[in-house]
Amino acid sequence: MRDEDLTRTLLDWYDVHAREMPWRVGPAARRAGMRPDPYRVWLSEVMLQQTTVAAVRGYFDRFTWRWPTVADLAAAQDDAVMAEWAGLGYYARARNLLKCARAIVADHGGRFPDTRAGLQALPGIGPYTAAAVAAIAFDRPETVVDGNVERVMARLHAVESPLPAVKGELGRLAARLTPAERPGDHAQAVMDLGATICTPRNPACGICPWRGPCAGRAAGIAPGLPRKSPKAPKPVRLGYAYVGRRADGAWLLERRPDKGLLGGMLGWPGSAWCDAPDEAPPVAADWRLLGAEVRHTFTHFHLRLHVFTARLPQEADPGRGMFLAPQEFRPAALPTVMRKVFDLARDAV
Ligand code: ADE
Repeated sequence: MRDEDLTRTLLDWYDVHAREMPWRVGPAARRAGMRPDPYRVWLSEVMLQQTTVAAVRGYFDRFTWRWPTVADLAAAQDDAVMAEWAGLGYYARARNLLKCARAIVADHGGRFPDTRAGLQALPGIGPYTAAAVAAIAFDRPETVVDGNVERVMARLHAVESPLPAVKGELGRLAARLTPAERPGDHAQAVMDLGATICTPRNPACGICPWRGPCAGRAAGIAPGLPRKSPKAPKPVRLGYAYVGRRADGAWLLERRPDKGLLGGMLGWPGSAWCDAPDEAPPVAADWRLLGAEVRHTFTHFHLRLHVFTARLPQEADPGRGMFLAPQEFRPAALPTVMRKVFDLARDAV
């Protein structure tokens, strides 16, 4: 099938099967002249990196309720944004989100640039987000390549070379299909196809609009694609976390440094995370080690945290961190690993 015919077949499918999303202007509304709000498109694309649509919906609704425009977000307190982001992971994204919103207000009069190059010049906007916002919000003929799109292309063209080496080739195959008309709908259509039909396991080839032209299906190898080079196993790191509670019920927490893992997020005082961490309680007390440990996996390592708890005297004067009264402390504002520590420790103090 020619590239134009592949594209038209997919757009016909999208006209019927487009998923509804809170930030999306569906094909019918788009035909009626409605345009997506670049702020909502940008926010959703940043949130969706490494995460699913289902996980993002609640966060997106809370963000846009609290900060309906990019100017509102630019004027937000850093801590408030970090707290709303808690649980989504990759916290550098939240700090970059704020930087970007502030640059749009300070340098662009509160309006998003409407080209890929203009978008990519903003802080925290990489090639993926720039292409996605340019295509979806401004209908620029840019090619959007995420994991879904790579999988769809590998199968459609029966590409058997493994990722990540074959990334460039899959991107070029995707670019060939990007149409001059409706590039935004096309980009969203390929992603929807990958998320709903051409899924990683058990793809629903029987109802796929590309079942005819799909070379991977013809060869019987579609479900195994894309192939992936084996990854080096993640190392295990160890650490200690200290959950201290004062007589009046206040919790001892600290804000993590802006740079580094979970930067700018609230957490329990603790050791470095490494092969052989030192025990380093934030204040002298009768710290007790809990019998269970917390396990959490980050991008580059598995973490095992030993958790200590202690009741702290009212006059305790730790060298680091701050006490948060129960009514000021929202466990939901903690990053996931710190919330796991709290869940384990809460009944011990
Ligand atoms: N995943 C990431 N961005 C998406 C989008 N715009 N549409 C569908 N799935 C997506």
